[in-house]
Amino acid sequence: MGHHHDKHIAVILAAGKGTRFKSKKPKVVHKILGKPMIHYISLAVRWSAPDKVIYVVGHEKQQVKKAINCLNCIYVEQEEQLGTGHAVAQTKPYWENFDGIVMVVNGDLPLVEGETLKNAVKYMEALLRFEGAPAEGGENYRNENVAGVVITTKVPNPLGYGRIIKDSNHRILRIVEEKDATYEEQQINEINTGIYLFYAPYLKEVIDKLENNNAQKEYYLTDVVQLLNQMGKEVYALLVPDYTQFIGVNDRWDLAKAENILRMKYLQFWSYAGVTFHNPESIYIEFDVELSPDVEIYHGVSLRGRTTVGEDTVIEEHCSLKNAKIGKNVKILKGSIIEDSTIEDGAVIGPYARIRNNTTIRQEAQIGNFVEVKNSTVGEKTAAKHLTYLGDAEIGKEVNIGAGTITCNYDGFEKHKTVIKDRAFIGSDTMLVAPLTVGEEAVTGSGSVVTKDVPDKALAVERSQLKIIENYAEKRKKRKKNA
Ligand code: UD1
Ligand code: CA
Repeated sequence: MGHHHDKHIAVILAAGKGTRFKSKKPKVVHKILGKPMIHYISLAVRWSAPDKVIYVVGHEKQQVKKAINCLNCIYVEQEEQLGTGHAVAQTKPYWENFDGIVMVVNGDLPLVEGETLKNAVKYMEALLRFEGAPAEGGENYRNENVAGVVITTKVPNPLGYGRIIKDSNHRILRIVEEKDATYEEQQINEINTGIYLFYAPYLKEVIDKLENNNAQKEYYLTDVVQLLNQMGKEVYALLVPDYTQFIGVNDRWDLAKAENILRMKYLQFWSYAGVTFHNPESIYIEFDVELSPDVEIYHGVSLRGRTTVGEDTVIEEHCSLKNAKIGKNVKILKGSIIEDSTIEDGAVIGPYARIRNNTTIRQEAQIGNFVEVKNSTVGEKTAAKHLTYLGDAEIGKEVNIGAGTITCNYDGFEKHKTVIKDRAFIGSDTMLVAPLTVGEEAVTGSGSVVTKDVPDKALAVERSQLKIIENYAEKRKKRKKNA
Protein backbone atom coordinates (compact mmCIF):
# COMPACT_ATOMS: atom_id res chain seq x y z
CA MET A 1 0.00 0.00 0.00
CA GLY A 2 2.33 2.73 -1.26
CA HIS A 3 -0.13 5.66 -1.40
CA HIS A 4 -2.55 4.53 1.22
CA HIS A 5 -5.88 6.28 1.23
CA ASP A 6 -8.71 5.21 3.50
CA LYS A 7 -11.90 4.73 1.59
CA HIS A 8 -14.87 6.93 2.19
CA ILE A 9 -18.51 6.76 1.23
CA ALA A 10 -20.51 9.96 0.74
CA VAL A 11 -24.19 10.28 1.69
CA ILE A 12 -26.09 13.33 0.41
CA LEU A 13 -29.45 14.06 2.04
CA ALA A 14 -32.06 15.22 -0.47
CA ALA A 15 -35.36 13.67 0.59
CA GLY A 16 -36.89 16.73 2.23
CA LYS A 17 -39.72 18.79 0.77
CA GLY A 18 -38.35 22.20 1.58
CA THR A 19 -41.59 23.44 3.12
CA ARG A 20 -40.22 26.96 3.56
CA PHE A 21 -39.83 27.30 -0.24
CA LYS A 22 -43.63 27.28 -0.59
CA SER A 23 -43.17 25.48 -3.89
CA LYS A 24 -44.73 22.70 -5.95
CA LYS A 25 -41.19 21.57 -6.75
CA PRO A 26 -38.82 19.92 -4.26
CA LYS A 27 -36.24 22.31 -2.82
CA VAL A 28 -33.04 20.86 -4.29
CA VAL A 29 -34.25 21.10 -7.91
CA HIS A 30 -34.64 24.90 -7.68
CA LYS A 31 -32.02 26.50 -9.87
CA ILE A 32 -28.90 28.49 -9.11
CA LEU A 33 -27.14 29.94 -12.19
CA GLY A 34 -29.17 27.63 -14.43
CA LYS A 35 -28.37 24.39 -12.56
CA PRO A 36 -30.41 22.58 -9.89
CA MET A 37 -29.17 23.50 -6.40
CA ILE A 38 -28.12 19.89 -5.77
CA HIS A 39 -25.61 20.11 -8.66
CA TYR A 40 -23.18 22.27 -6.64
CA ILE A 41 -22.91 20.09 -3.54
CA SER A 42 -22.61 17.07 -5.83
CA LEU A 43 -19.58 18.68 -7.51
CA ALA A 44 -17.96 19.45 -4.15
CA VAL A 45 -18.56 15.89 -2.90
CA ARG A 46 -17.06 14.42 -6.08
CA TRP A 47 -13.97 16.61 -5.54
CA SER A 48 -13.30 14.70 -2.27
CA ALA A 49 -13.02 11.48 -4.35
CA PRO A 50 -15.45 9.17 -2.51
CA ASP A 51 -15.63 5.51 -3.47
CA LYS A 52 -19.41 5.66 -3.53
CA VAL A 53 -21.99 8.45 -3.60
CA ILE A 54 -25.39 7.71 -2.09
CA TYR A 55 -28.31 10.12 -2.38
CA VAL A 56 -31.24 9.84 -0.01
CA VAL A 57 -34.33 10.83 -1.97
CA GLY A 58 -38.02 10.79 -1.07
CA HIS A 59 -40.28 13.75 -1.73
CA GLU A 60 -40.86 13.93 -5.54
CA LYS A 61 -37.97 11.50 -5.98
CA GLN A 62 -38.23 11.25 -9.77
CA GLN A 63 -37.72 14.99 -10.18
CA VAL A 64 -34.83 14.96 -7.73
CA LYS A 65 -33.10 12.00 -9.42
CA LYS A 66 -33.49 13.71 -12.78
CA ALA A 67 -31.90 16.87 -11.38
CA ILE A 68 -29.01 14.86 -9.86
CA ASN A 69 -28.49 13.07 -13.19
CA CYS A 70 -25.75 10.71 -11.98
CA LEU A 71 -25.45 7.25 -13.52
CA ASN A 72 -23.03 5.57 -11.12
CA CYS A 73 -24.59 6.99 -7.95
CA ILE A 74 -26.79 5.03 -5.55
CA TYR A 75 -30.29 6.27 -4.73
CA VAL A 76 -31.85 5.23 -1.45
CA GLU A 77 -35.46 6.01 -0.78
CA GLN A 78 -36.70 7.51 2.46
CA GLU A 79 -40.43 7.02 2.15
CA GLU A 80 -41.41 9.30 5.02
CA GLN A 81 -39.26 12.27 5.92
CA LEU A 82 -38.85 11.56 9.62
CA GLY A 83 -35.61 13.53 10.04
CA THR A 84 -31.96 13.64 9.00
CA GLY A 85 -31.01 10.75 11.33
CA HIS A 86 -33.77 8.59 9.88
CA ALA A 87 -32.53 9.51 6.38
CA VAL A 88 -29.00 8.31 7.14
CA ALA A 89 -30.37 5.13 8.76
CA GLN A 90 -31.89 4.18 5.37
CA THR A 91 -28.40 4.00 3.86
CA LYS A 92 -27.04 1.59 6.50
CA PRO A 93 -26.99 -1.50 4.22
CA TYR A 94 -24.32 0.26 2.15
CA TRP A 95 -21.84 0.82 5.01
CA GLU A 96 -22.71 -1.56 7.86
CA ASN A 97 -19.79 -3.82 6.94
CA PHE A 98 -17.49 -1.01 5.87
CA ASP A 99 -14.30 -0.20 7.78
CA GLY A 100 -13.93 3.42 6.74
CA ILE A 101 -15.45 6.89 6.76
CA VAL A 102 -19.06 7.79 6.00
CA MET A 103 -19.31 11.44 5.05
CA VAL A 104 -22.85 12.84 5.40
CA VAL A 105 -23.72 16.13 3.70
CA ASN A 106 -27.01 18.04 3.67
CA GLY A 107 -28.26 18.55 0.11
CA ASP A 108 -29.07 22.22 0.68
CA LEU A 109 -25.47 23.49 0.93
CA PRO A 110 -24.65 24.75 -2.58
CA LEU A 111 -21.76 27.01 -1.49
CA VAL A 112 -19.47 24.39 0.04
CA GLU A 113 -16.05 24.18 -1.64
CA GLY A 114 -14.76 20.80 -2.81
CA GLU A 115 -11.46 21.59 -1.11
CA THR A 116 -13.24 21.94 2.26
CA LEU A 117 -14.63 18.40 1.99
CA LYS A 118 -11.30 17.03 0.82
CA ASN A 119 -9.54 18.61 3.83
CA ALA A 120 -12.18 17.24 6.18
CA VAL A 121 -11.57 13.71 4.87
CA LYS A 122 -7.80 14.15 5.37
CA TYR A 123 -8.36 15.45 8.89
CA MET A 124 -10.57 12.49 9.79
CA GLU A 125 -8.06 10.05 8.28
CA ALA A 126 -5.29 11.62 10.37
CA LEU A 127 -7.39 11.40 13.56
CA LEU A 128 -8.14 7.74 12.94
CA ARG A 129 -4.44 6.91 13.04
CA PHE A 130 -2.45 6.82 16.28
CA GLU A 131 0.04 9.60 16.65
CA GLY A 132 3.33 8.50 15.12
CA ALA A 133 1.71 5.76 13.07
CA PRO A 134 3.10 5.51 9.54
CA ALA A 135 0.82 7.08 6.90
CA GLU A 136 0.38 3.69 5.28
CA GLY A 137 -0.35 2.01 8.62
CA GLY A 138 -3.34 -0.30 8.53
CA GLU A 139 -5.72 -1.81 11.09
CA ASN A 140 -3.27 -2.06 13.97
CA TYR A 141 -2.67 1.65 14.07
CA ARG A 142 -6.31 2.62 14.30
CA ASN A 143 -7.10 5.09 17.06
CA GLU A 144 -10.14 3.38 18.48
CA ASN A 145 -11.40 6.42 20.35
CA VAL A 146 -12.19 8.54 17.30
CA ALA A 147 -15.75 8.33 16.01
CA GLY A 148 -16.26 11.44 13.94
CA VAL A 149 -15.66 14.98 12.75
CA VAL A 150 -18.28 17.68 12.33
CA ILE A 151 -17.48 20.74 10.21
CA THR A 152 -18.43 23.79 12.24
CA THR A 153 -18.23 27.52 11.64
CA LYS A 154 -18.86 30.71 13.60
CA VAL A 155 -21.62 32.91 12.26
CA PRO A 156 -22.73 36.46 13.11
CA ASN A 157 -26.32 35.22 13.46
CA PRO A 158 -26.71 31.53 14.42
CA LEU A 159 -30.53 31.65 14.20
CA GLY A 160 -31.95 28.39 12.86
CA TYR A 161 -28.75 26.35 13.03
CA GLY A 162 -27.77 23.57 15.44
CA ARG A 163 -25.38 24.85 18.15
CA ILE A 164 -22.10 23.10 18.99
CA ILE A 165 -21.55 22.16 22.64
CA LYS A 166 -17.84 21.42 23.16
CA ASP A 167 -15.37 20.48 25.85
CA SER A 168 -12.05 22.25 26.22
CA ASN A 169 -10.25 19.94 23.74
CA HIS A 170 -12.29 20.79 20.60
CA ARG A 171 -14.34 17.71 21.21
CA ILE A 172 -18.04 18.01 20.61
CA LEU A 173 -20.23 16.69 23.41
CA ARG A 174 -23.51 17.26 21.62
CA ILE A 175 -25.34 19.39 19.08
CA VAL A 176 -28.50 21.15 20.12
CA GLU A 177 -31.08 22.28 17.58
CA GLU A 178 -32.37 25.86 17.67
CA LYS A 179 -35.84 24.76 18.75
CA ASP A 180 -34.52 22.60 21.60
CA ALA A 181 -31.86 25.01 22.84
CA THR A 182 -31.97 26.85 26.14
CA TYR A 183 -31.47 30.60 26.16
CA GLU A 184 -27.80 30.13 27.14
CA GLU A 185 -27.23 27.56 24.37
CA GLN A 186 -28.78 29.94 21.87
CA GLN A 187 -25.98 32.44 22.60
CA ILE A 188 -23.39 30.02 21.12
CA ASN A 189 -22.36 31.18 17.66
CA GLU A 190 -20.42 28.07 16.61
CA ILE A 191 -22.88 26.10 14.50
CA ASN A 192 -23.30 22.72 12.84
CA THR A 193 -22.78 23.18 9.07
CA GLY A 194 -24.58 19.93 8.23
CA ILE A 195 -21.38 18.11 7.16
CA TYR A 196 -20.25 15.10 9.20
CA LEU A 197 -17.65 12.35 8.91
CA PHE A 198 -18.25 9.19 10.91
CA TYR A 199 -16.23 6.05 11.42
CA ALA A 200 -18.71 3.56 9.94
CA PRO A 201 -18.47 0.77 12.58
CA TYR A 202 -19.35 3.27 15.34
CA LEU A 203 -22.08 4.98 13.36
CA LYS A 204 -23.63 1.52 12.91
CA GLU A 205 -23.75 1.11 16.71
CA VAL A 206 -25.78 4.26 17.31
CA ILE A 207 -27.83 5.03 14.20
CA ASP A 208 -30.80 2.88 15.24
CA LYS A 209 -30.79 4.25 18.79
CA LEU A 210 -31.99 7.72 17.80
CA GLU A 211 -35.24 8.93 19.33
CA ASN A 212 -37.64 11.64 18.28
CA ASN A 213 -38.56 13.11 21.67
CA ASN A 214 -37.66 16.66 20.68
CA ALA A 215 -39.37 19.89 19.63
CA GLN A 216 -39.82 18.77 15.99
CA LYS A 217 -40.64 15.10 16.68
CA GLU A 218 -37.87 14.13 14.24
CA TYR A 219 -34.99 11.67 14.32
CA TYR A 220 -32.07 14.12 14.34
CA LEU A 221 -28.74 13.02 12.90
CA THR A 222 -27.19 15.57 15.25
CA ASP A 223 -28.13 13.36 18.24
CA VAL A 224 -25.63 10.76 16.99
CA VAL A 225 -22.89 12.94 18.52
CA GLN A 226 -24.23 12.58 22.04
CA LEU A 227 -24.78 8.83 21.58
CA LEU A 228 -21.16 8.41 20.42
CA ASN A 229 -19.97 10.33 23.49
CA GLN A 230 -22.05 7.98 25.68
CA MET A 231 -20.16 5.07 24.05
CA GLY A 232 -16.94 6.74 25.21
CA LYS A 233 -15.99 7.80 21.70
CA GLU A 234 -14.75 11.19 20.50
CA VAL A 235 -16.21 13.58 17.95
CA TYR A 236 -14.03 16.49 16.84
CA ALA A 237 -14.96 19.88 15.44
CA LEU A 238 -13.25 21.05 12.26
CA LEU A 239 -13.86 24.78 12.53
CA VAL A 240 -13.75 26.45 9.10
CA PRO A 241 -13.50 30.26 9.36
CA ASP A 242 -15.26 31.13 6.06
CA TYR A 243 -18.90 30.84 7.13
CA THR A 244 -20.28 32.00 3.75
CA GLN A 245 -19.64 28.48 2.41
CA PHE A 246 -22.20 27.04 4.78
CA ILE A 247 -25.38 29.01 4.16
CA GLY A 248 -28.11 26.38 4.37
CA VAL A 249 -30.69 27.18 1.71
CA ASN A 250 -34.04 26.83 3.47
CA ASP A 251 -36.16 29.43 1.66
CA ARG A 252 -36.13 31.40 -1.58
CA TRP A 253 -34.34 34.36 -0.06
CA ASP A 254 -31.50 32.02 1.01
CA LEU A 255 -31.56 30.75 -2.60
CA ALA A 256 -31.17 34.31 -3.93
CA LYS A 257 -28.32 35.02 -1.49
CA ALA A 258 -26.56 31.78 -2.40
CA GLU A 259 -26.94 32.51 -6.11
CA ASN A 260 -25.42 35.96 -5.68
CA ILE A 261 -22.42 34.53 -3.84
CA LEU A 262 -21.85 31.87 -6.53
CA ARG A 263 -22.43 34.40 -9.31
CA MET A 264 -19.67 36.67 -8.00
CA LYS A 265 -17.37 33.68 -7.44
CA TYR A 266 -17.67 32.56 -11.08
CA LEU A 267 -17.36 36.16 -12.37
CA GLN A 268 -14.12 36.39 -10.42
CA PHE A 269 -12.99 33.12 -11.99
CA TRP A 270 -13.64 34.47 -15.52
CA SER A 271 -12.03 37.77 -14.65
CA TYR A 272 -8.81 35.98 -13.65
CA ALA A 273 -9.12 34.01 -16.91
CA GLY A 274 -8.91 37.26 -18.93
CA VAL A 275 -12.46 38.62 -19.21
CA THR A 276 -13.22 42.30 -18.49
CA PHE A 277 -16.46 43.07 -16.64
CA HIS A 278 -17.84 46.57 -16.25
CA ASN A 279 -20.04 46.74 -13.16
CA PRO A 280 -19.98 43.00 -12.35
CA GLU A 281 -22.72 43.41 -9.72
CA SER A 282 -25.20 43.78 -12.61
CA ILE A 283 -23.95 40.87 -14.74
CA TYR A 284 -25.59 37.41 -14.67
CA ILE A 285 -23.66 34.47 -16.13
CA GLU A 286 -24.88 30.88 -15.74
CA PHE A 287 -22.78 27.87 -14.82
CA ASP A 288 -22.48 26.28 -18.31
CA VAL A 289 -21.33 29.47 -20.09
CA GLU A 290 -17.80 29.48 -21.57
CA LEU A 291 -15.88 32.73 -22.09
CA SER A 292 -12.54 33.49 -23.77
CA PRO A 293 -9.68 35.89 -23.01
CA ASP A 294 -10.19 39.54 -23.97
CA VAL A 295 -13.95 39.30 -23.96
CA GLU A 296 -15.44 42.54 -22.65
CA ILE A 297 -18.85 42.62 -20.99
CA TYR A 298 -20.82 45.70 -19.99
CA HIS A 299 -23.53 46.52 -17.49
CA GLY A 300 -26.69 44.43 -17.23
CA VAL A 301 -25.65 41.57 -19.55
CA SER A 302 -27.21 38.14 -19.04
CA LEU A 303 -25.53 35.02 -20.50
CA ARG A 304 -27.51 31.83 -20.04
CA GLY A 305 -27.56 28.16 -20.96
CA ARG A 306 -24.74 26.77 -23.10
CA THR A 307 -23.55 30.13 -24.37
CA THR A 308 -19.94 30.39 -25.60
CA VAL A 309 -18.14 33.61 -26.46
CA GLY A 310 -14.92 33.84 -28.54
CA GLU A 311 -11.89 36.07 -28.05
CA ASP A 312 -12.06 39.87 -28.42
CA THR A 313 -15.84 39.93 -28.53
CA VAL A 314 -17.60 42.88 -26.91
CA ILE A 315 -21.09 42.57 -25.43
CA GLU A 316 -22.63 45.94 -24.64
CA GLU A 317 -25.18 46.95 -22.02
CA HIS A 318 -28.40 44.98 -21.42
CA CYS A 319 -27.83 42.20 -23.94
CA SER A 320 -29.44 38.85 -23.19
CA LEU A 321 -27.95 35.67 -24.68
CA LYS A 322 -29.14 32.09 -24.19
CA ASN A 323 -27.59 29.03 -25.85
CA ALA A 324 -25.73 31.38 -28.18
CA LYS A 325 -22.48 30.45 -29.89
CA ILE A 326 -20.58 33.69 -30.45
CA GLY A 327 -17.35 33.77 -32.49
CA LYS A 328 -14.29 35.95 -32.18
CA ASN A 329 -14.22 39.71 -32.47
CA VAL A 330 -18.01 40.00 -32.62
CA LYS A 331 -19.71 43.21 -31.53
CA ILE A 332 -23.05 42.77 -29.82
CA LEU A 333 -24.39 46.27 -29.31
CA LYS A 334 -26.77 47.46 -26.60
CA GLY A 335 -30.07 45.76 -25.89
CA SER A 336 -29.73 42.77 -28.24
CA ILE A 337 -31.29 39.34 -27.64
CA ILE A 338 -29.78 36.15 -29.08
CA GLU A 339 -31.20 32.67 -28.45
CA ASP A 340 -30.30 29.21 -29.79
CA SER A 341 -28.21 30.75 -32.57
CA THR A 342 -24.66 31.14 -33.90
CA ILE A 343 -22.87 34.39 -34.65
CA GLU A 344 -19.63 33.96 -36.59
CA ASP A 345 -16.38 35.94 -36.31
CA GLY A 346 -16.43 39.67 -36.93
CA ALA A 347 -20.21 40.09 -37.16
CA VAL A 348 -21.90 43.19 -35.73
CA ILE A 349 -25.27 42.72 -34.02
CA GLY A 350 -27.62 45.42 -32.74
CA PRO A 351 -28.29 47.72 -31.05
CA TYR A 352 -31.71 46.22 -30.28
CA ALA A 353 -31.51 43.19 -32.57
CA ARG A 354 -33.34 39.92 -31.91
CA ILE A 355 -31.86 36.68 -33.24
CA ARG A 356 -33.47 33.35 -32.42
CA ASN A 357 -34.39 29.76 -33.23
CA ASN A 358 -31.44 28.18 -35.01
CA THR A 359 -30.18 31.22 -36.89
CA THR A 360 -26.62 31.51 -38.18
CA ILE A 361 -25.12 34.91 -38.85
CA ARG A 362 -21.97 34.39 -40.94
CA GLN A 363 -18.66 36.25 -40.73
CA GLU A 364 -18.75 40.04 -40.80
CA ALA A 365 -22.46 40.23 -41.46
CA GLN A 366 -24.32 43.14 -39.88
CA ILE A 367 -27.70 42.91 -38.20
CA GLY A 368 -28.84 46.34 -37.07
CA ASN A 369 -31.48 47.93 -34.88
CA PHE A 370 -34.97 46.50 -34.72
CA VAL A 371 -34.08 43.57 -36.95
CA GLU A 372 -35.50 40.15 -36.03
CA VAL A 373 -33.95 37.05 -37.57
CA LYS A 374 -35.58 33.65 -36.99
CA ASN A 375 -34.48 30.19 -38.20
CA SER A 376 -32.39 31.74 -40.96
CA THR A 377 -28.87 31.87 -42.33
CA VAL A 378 -27.41 35.26 -43.16
CA GLY A 379 -24.30 35.06 -45.38
CA GLU A 380 -20.88 36.66 -45.06
CA LYS A 381 -20.81 40.45 -45.18
CA THR A 382 -24.55 40.67 -45.72
CA ALA A 383 -26.19 43.67 -44.08
CA ALA A 384 -29.72 44.08 -42.72
CA LYS A 385 -29.33 47.18 -40.66
CA HIS A 386 -32.78 48.56 -39.91
CA LEU A 387 -36.35 47.51 -39.07
CA THR A 388 -36.54 44.12 -40.74
CA TYR A 389 -38.00 40.62 -40.20
CA LEU A 390 -36.15 37.68 -41.72
CA GLY A 391 -37.85 34.34 -40.97
CA ASP A 392 -37.06 30.91 -42.50
CA ALA A 393 -34.69 32.61 -44.94
CA GLU A 394 -31.45 31.50 -46.54
CA ILE A 395 -29.51 34.59 -47.48
CA GLY A 396 -26.22 34.55 -49.40
CA LYS A 397 -23.12 36.72 -49.19
CA GLU A 398 -22.86 40.48 -49.57
CA VAL A 399 -26.60 40.90 -49.84
CA ASN A 400 -28.04 44.27 -48.88
CA ILE A 401 -31.41 44.11 -47.17
CA GLY A 402 -33.05 47.54 -47.20
CA ALA A 403 -34.79 49.03 -44.19
CA GLY A 404 -38.27 47.71 -43.52
CA THR A 405 -37.89 44.51 -45.57
CA ILE A 406 -40.07 41.63 -44.42
CA THR A 407 -40.14 37.96 -45.34
CA CYS A 408 -43.85 37.11 -45.34
CA ASN A 409 -43.12 33.52 -44.32
CA TYR A 410 -46.49 32.53 -42.85
CA ASP A 411 -49.68 32.10 -44.84
CA GLY A 412 -51.82 31.40 -41.81
CA PHE A 413 -51.28 27.64 -42.12
CA GLU A 414 -47.65 26.94 -42.85
CA LYS A 415 -44.20 28.55 -42.80
CA HIS A 416 -42.45 29.00 -46.15
CA LYS A 417 -38.86 29.55 -47.10
CA THR A 418 -37.24 32.61 -48.69
CA VAL A 419 -33.95 32.23 -50.58
CA ILE A 420 -31.90 35.32 -51.42
CA LYS A 421 -28.74 34.65 -53.41
CA ASP A 422 -25.32 36.32 -53.26
CA ARG A 423 -25.06 40.08 -53.87
CA ALA A 424 -28.78 40.59 -54.34
CA PHE A 425 -30.05 44.06 -53.44
CA ILE A 426 -33.39 44.14 -51.63
CA GLY A 427 -34.89 47.63 -51.80
CA SER A 428 -36.30 49.20 -48.65
CA ASP A 429 -39.73 48.05 -47.58
CA THR A 430 -39.82 45.00 -49.86
CA MET A 431 -42.39 42.35 -48.90
CA LEU A 432 -41.02 38.96 -49.91
CA VAL A 433 -44.04 36.63 -50.01
CA ALA A 434 -42.60 33.11 -49.46
CA PRO A 435 -41.92 30.57 -50.88
CA LEU A 436 -39.65 32.62 -53.07
CA THR A 437 -36.14 32.85 -54.51
CA VAL A 438 -34.37 36.10 -55.35
CA GLY A 439 -31.46 35.36 -57.70
CA GLU A 440 -27.82 36.46 -57.60
CA GLU A 441 -27.37 40.19 -58.06
CA ALA A 442 -31.11 40.58 -58.53
CA VAL A 443 -32.72 43.81 -57.34
CA THR A 444 -36.13 44.50 -55.83
CA GLY A 445 -37.63 47.98 -56.02
CA SER A 446 -38.46 49.79 -52.79
CA GLY A 447 -41.97 49.15 -51.58
CA SER A 448 -42.54 46.14 -53.84
CA VAL A 449 -44.62 43.16 -52.85
CA VAL A 450 -42.71 40.32 -54.51
CA THR A 451 -44.73 37.15 -55.04
CA LYS A 452 -42.70 35.34 -57.73
CA ASP A 453 -39.12 34.13 -58.05
CA VAL A 454 -36.73 36.80 -59.31
CA PRO A 455 -34.11 35.49 -61.77
CA ASP A 456 -30.38 36.26 -61.37
CA LYS A 457 -29.55 39.91 -62.18
CA ALA A 458 -33.25 40.83 -62.78
CA LEU A 459 -35.20 43.72 -61.27
CA ALA A 460 -38.53 43.03 -59.60
CA VAL A 461 -40.61 46.10 -59.08
CA GLU A 462 -44.26 46.25 -58.18
CA ARG A 463 -45.52 49.77 -58.02
CA SER A 464 -48.49 51.74 -59.35
CA GLN A 465 -47.80 54.86 -61.41
CA LEU A 466 -46.76 57.81 -59.24
CA LYS A 467 -49.10 60.78 -59.69
CA ILE A 468 -48.04 64.39 -59.01
CA ILE A 469 -50.88 66.83 -58.53
CA GLU A 470 -49.67 70.44 -58.55
CA ASN A 471 -50.93 72.94 -55.99
CA TYR A 472 -52.86 70.28 -54.11
CA ALA A 473 -52.71 72.11 -50.75
CA GLU A 474 -54.78 75.01 -52.09
CA LYS A 475 -57.36 72.67 -53.68
CA ARG A 476 -57.74 70.89 -50.34
CA LYS A 477 -58.40 74.09 -48.44
CA LYS A 478 -61.06 75.17 -51.02
CA ARG A 479 -62.79 71.81 -50.74
CA LYS A 480 -62.90 72.12 -46.94
CA LYS A 481 -64.44 75.62 -47.11
CA ASN A 482 -67.20 74.53 -49.55
CA ALA A 483 -68.14 71.54 -47.42
C1 UD1 B 1 -29.87 20.81 9.81
C2 UD1 B 1 -29.23 20.37 11.12
C3 UD1 B 1 -28.70 21.60 11.86
C4 UD1 B 1 -27.71 22.32 10.99
C5 UD1 B 1 -28.32 22.67 9.64
C6 UD1 B 1 -27.24 23.17 8.70
C7 UD1 B 1 -30.48 18.39 11.84
C8 UD1 B 1 -31.46 17.85 12.82
N1 UD1 B 1 -30.21 19.69 11.94
O1 UD1 B 1 -30.98 21.61 10.11
O2 UD1 B 1 -28.07 21.20 13.07
O3 UD1 B 1 -27.24 23.49 11.63
O4 UD1 B 1 -28.90 21.50 9.02
O5 UD1 B 1 -27.78 23.71 7.52
O6 UD1 B 1 -29.96 17.65 11.05
N2 UD1 B 1 -33.62 15.66 4.86
C9 UD1 B 1 -33.91 14.37 4.45
N3 UD1 B 1 -34.83 13.65 5.14
C10 UD1 B 1 -35.47 14.13 6.23
C11 UD1 B 1 -35.17 15.45 6.67
C12 UD1 B 1 -34.23 16.18 5.96
O7 UD1 B 1 -33.36 13.90 3.46
O8 UD1 B 1 -36.27 13.40 6.81
C13 UD1 B 1 -32.63 16.45 4.10
C14 UD1 B 1 -33.23 17.73 3.53
O9 UD1 B 1 -33.70 17.50 2.21
C15 UD1 B 1 -32.02 18.69 3.57
C16 UD1 B 1 -31.16 18.16 4.68
O10 UD1 B 1 -31.60 16.86 4.97
O11 UD1 B 1 -31.28 18.64 2.36
C17 UD1 B 1 -31.23 19.03 5.93
O12 UD1 B 1 -32.56 19.11 6.38
P1 UD1 B 1 -33.19 20.46 6.91
O13 UD1 B 1 -34.60 20.19 7.26
O14 UD1 B 1 -32.91 21.56 5.95
O15 UD1 B 1 -32.35 20.67 8.26
P2 UD1 B 1 -32.13 22.03 9.04
O16 UD1 B 1 -33.34 22.35 9.81
O17 UD1 B 1 -31.59 23.04 8.13
CA1 CA C 1 -31.31 23.20 5.95
